Amino acid sequence: MREIFYEKGLAVEFYDRLYPGHLAGTPVVGDVHFYLAQARRMGGPVLELGVGTGRVALPLAAAGHRVTGVDLSRWMLEACARKAALAGLGGRITLVRSDMAKLALGERRFPLAIIPFRAFQHLLTPAAQQACLTGVRRHLRKGGRLVVDLFNPRLEYCLPEYRQAGGSGARTETYPDRVHGRTLEVRYLTRTNDAHRQVLREVWEFRVYGRKFKLLRRQRDTLHLRWTYQWEMHHLLERCGFRVRHCFGDFRGGPVRYGAEQVWVAEKR
Ligand SMILES: C[S@@+](CC[C@H](N)C(=O)[O-])C[C@H]1O[C@@H](n2cnc3c(N)ncnc32)[C@H](O)[C@@H]1O
Repeated sequence: MREIFYEKGLAVEFYDRLYPGHLAGTPVVGDVHFYLAQARRMGGPVLELGVGTGRVALPLAAAGHRVTGVDLSRWMLEACARKAALAGLGGRITLVRSDMAKLALGERRFPLAIIPFRAFQHLLTPAAQQACLTGVRRHLRKGGRLVVDLFNPRLEYCLPEYRQAGGSGARTETYPDRVHGRTLEVRYLTRTNDAHRQVLREVWEFRVYGRKFKLLRRQRDTLHLRWTYQWEMHHLLERCGFRVRHCFGDFRGGPVRYGAEQVWVAEKR
């Protein structure tokens, strides 16, 4: 089955509807303001890994920062480039198609690198995680900063026998698209956990309905993410040449809490 975001289709088209701007009502709320404050403090240019459709990169560019955005998905990058051009910000955003675990940006050095909205969790092995962190460090200036956001795993969701609420496994979200007279629907069908590798696999189904609820398009994708425990991440950062400055539980600077976020702020040693 297709892996989400990496191929052309509904997951990419839906992204900005599912995850608009500031992600109100989610544990990640306020992240854009947090990254803007970090960029004000550290200065630009900013390196963003897993830039996606530019949810964070565009506000950074609008605030006057130059941004280099890396993503593995050609389709997410195309969406980002289109939005940047429409907003007149194309000149401030450089997009690079690359695996974040294989960064090779030549001699470019940044005062700030960010990996927002759990993009780091798409790296499914400790070796890929280390390769990413070592690569980022190489592209940071002396004293440069890395901010990474992960979810803080709730263990009951990570059990091998976990089933989504409701028993059947399905959860559905619906998004009316009044401009085009369509309805978008996302069904979270199943989640299976590999508790040994710390990798979850979810199957999402995207549907587009026209008038009278006529099904127009349908697509299924898988999402694999690796969960990483707080002290595992702490050691990983230290091992890869960073000094941990903070780990917050949210983007307001609150304490780490079980089941919330892990917002890491680390400095190049
Ligand atoms: C949840 S989205 C985050 C997008 C954006 N940063 C945001 O906050 O809205 C994760 C992004 O990471 C990208 N991605 C996943 N694995 C990657 C990898 N190994 N290297 C680079 N990008 C990757 C996906 O293509 C997707 O665009």
